[in-house]
Formats: sequence, structure tokens, C-alpha cells
Amino acid sequence: MSSACEMNGPVAVTGAAGYVGSWLIMRLLEKGYTVRATVRDPTNLKKTKHLLDLPEASERLTLWKADLDDEGSFDDAFDGCTGVFHVATPMDFESTDPENEVIKPTINGVLNVMKSCKKAQTVKRVVFTSSAGTVDIQEHQQPQYDETWWSNVEFCRRTKMTAWMYFVSKTLAEQAAWEFAKENNVDFISIIPTLVVGPFIMSSMPPSMLTALALILGNEPHYSILKQCQLIHLDDLCMAHIFLLEDSKANGRYICSSKDTTIFELAKMLKEKYPEYNIPTNFKGIDDSIKPVHFSSKKLTDLGFEFKYSMEDMFDGAISSCREKNLIPLASIDQA
Ligand SMILES: NC(=O)c1ccc[n+]([C@@H]2O[C@H](COP(=O)([O-])OP(=O)(O)OC[C@H]3O[C@@H](n4cnc5c(N)ncnc54)[C@H](OP(=O)(O)O)[C@@H]3O)[C@@H](O)[C@H]2O)c1
Repeated sequence: MSSACEMNGPVAVTGAAGYVGSWLIMRLLEKGYTVRATVRDPTNLKKTKHLLDLPEASERLTLWKADLDDEGSFDDAFDGCTGVFHVATPMDFESTDPENEVIKPTINGVLNVMKSCKKAQTVKRVVFTSSAGTVDIQEHQQPQYDETWWSNVEFCRRTKMTAWMYFVSKTLAEQAAWEFAKENNVDFISIIPTLVVGPFIMSSMPPSMLTALALILGNEPHYSILKQCQLIHLDDLCMAHIFLLEDSKANGRYICSSKDTTIFELAKMLKEKYPEYNIPTNFKGIDDSIKPVHFSSKKLTDLGFEFKYSMEDMFDGAISSCREKNLIPLASIDQA
């Protein structure tokens, strides 16, 4: 595979109907790309209408059926593509069979995607959407993280914190992909988003909104994830995906995160901006003197990428999309 990234052929996006995939496709179409979107069921209009309704979709977007569980199912979609964004991942934090429903499909899925890229022989670069959960899940939190850190899978399996199976699945999947890329000479980049927040075009509730809006939804099991969290706006993240596909100097892992915060700072901001919701400000078991943990995007910004959005933009966008689609109430029940 060549490492130069003149993306004059079509590009493919897996997990196209989801929160990140659908916004990424919107931006790719705007930039003039021809896009092949893979979904598990192209006939399910509830999941695909927001893609088909995008400007330019009738000219430059096609839907392809592919499942992470089926080896070879990405072959047709990737054949002739110059770039592939592997965004899809099982996102079921409540799974009762996490090894078989989340961990194995995520690892086998990334390998199936990589094999199909190799088979196509036209794919110049693969951009894999990884996760901060591959970086900072350790027994002893560090004050800051960069791309050299990896989560401790054994600690996740032993502790079984909220979303542990997701952290394990993404860590092992990214490591398996790196090994495959090195052995098979695939130009592979991983982008590592922290918690993604922002407006969206899919019609159902994005799984990560259950965490991002946990203080509004009263979703207490997710407070531990917000305790010391880092955030990235969905649009910044999608533009960074395209930037990393196009920049021939890009190489390795890239953290993509623009704001370090704590649950207390987040609660204060939401309480001031959205007094119609009962936002808690004290959290059992969380010390109010905690400091933010820094996720460094220096490698990405040194390459020339610039973030555009603030934490307020992220939550204003997310809350207004949720309200427009009737996914959250306009006020807490006792304030309505
Ligand atoms: N959102 C965040 O805060 C966040 C943070 C860090 C990293 N990420 C990463 O960003 C990526 C996208 O996440 P998201 O927030 O957009 O989640 P999402 O809305 O749930 O999208 C994930 C997509 O993956 C697809 N998928 C699940 N299982 C599949 C399978 N077996 N075969 C094929 N496709 C399958 C789903 O497709 P269907 O439409 O067919 O159901 C869904 O559209 C993931 O890799 C995630 O790890 C997200």
C-alpha cells in the first residue's frame, strides 16, 4: 500500500448510520467525496433515512450491507476505495454476555475490516476510530495521558467498572489492528476520541449521550465516567478523521480531545445554562477537590489540526438535537 493519500477514489465508512459515522459522511459529502456507507441493514429506513436525506446523497452516497461478524462482508464495499474509515463498533454496555456480544465481535470485526482492505488492493489508508478507553483505564490514574499509554485489560476484567467490556474490546481490537497492519503493510492510523458531544443527525439516542447527558437524565451509573472526563465536539472529531486520512505525514495513534473537565465543572455549567433541569451538584463517593486529567492532543495539533468548539457548544448542540427529536424532556418532571 502507498502512504500518499491522494483520495481521488471513493471512501468507505463503516458504522455509517451511527452518531459519528453519519456526521462524518455529511462532512465527506460536503467536501466532495464519493462515499460508500456500510450498515447492517440497508433496507431499515429508520436507521438510514438521515443518510439518504443528506445533500448530495443521491449523487455520491451508496449504502452497502456489511456485518462485523461476517468475514468477507466488507469485500464488495471496499473494492475500489482509496480510503476506509472503520467507525463501527458494538456499543452495548448492558450486555449479559460481554465476551461474545461485545469483545469478540469488536476484535474479529476490526480484523475482518483489515482483511477486506488488504484484499481490495486500492485502499491507501485505513483510519480506525479508537477510544480514550484504550488509553487511561488503569488502577492508578495519571495526571495526563498521551498516545503512548494503553489501558490495563486485566484491571478492567477484574474491576468490572461501568462499560468495562467496551474498554477491553476497543483496547484489544486496536492492538490486533496494529499487529495486522504491521504484518501486512497496511497504512493504518488510529484516532482516539474522548467522550464525543455535539449535535447529531441520527434519529435515535446516540449511546454515548447516555453518558454525556447523564446529569440531565439522572443516569447515576455513568457518573463515574464523568468524574474526571475529557470531551470532544462531534464536528471537530469528524473533521480530524478527514484531516488524518488526507495528511500523508500522519502516522500512528492520535488523541482527539479538546476539553479536560470534572463532573463538578460540568454540573456547574449545565445548572447555570439549563436551570429547567434538576442537575445534581454533590456526588456520593466523589471528592469535590478532584482535578481534571489531561488528554494531550498535541500530536494532532502539531500536525496542523485546529479545534473549533467549546464545551458549551458541545452541550448546546447535543441538548438541542435531543430536544428536537424528543429524546429528552424540555425540563425535569418536577420543574415542568
Ligand atoms: N460516541 C463517543 O463518545 C465515542 C467516544 C470514543 C470513541 N468512540 C468510537 O466511535 C465509534 C462510533 O461510535 P458512535 O458513538 O457513533 O456509536 P453508534 O452510534 O452506536 O454507532 C456505532 C455503529 O456501529 C454499528 N455496529 C454495531 N455492531 C455492528 C456489527 N456487528 N456490524 C456492523 N456494524 C455494527 C452500528 O450499526 P447499525 O446501525 O447497523 O446498528 C452503529 O451504527 C466507535 O468505534 C466508538 O468506539 C465513540
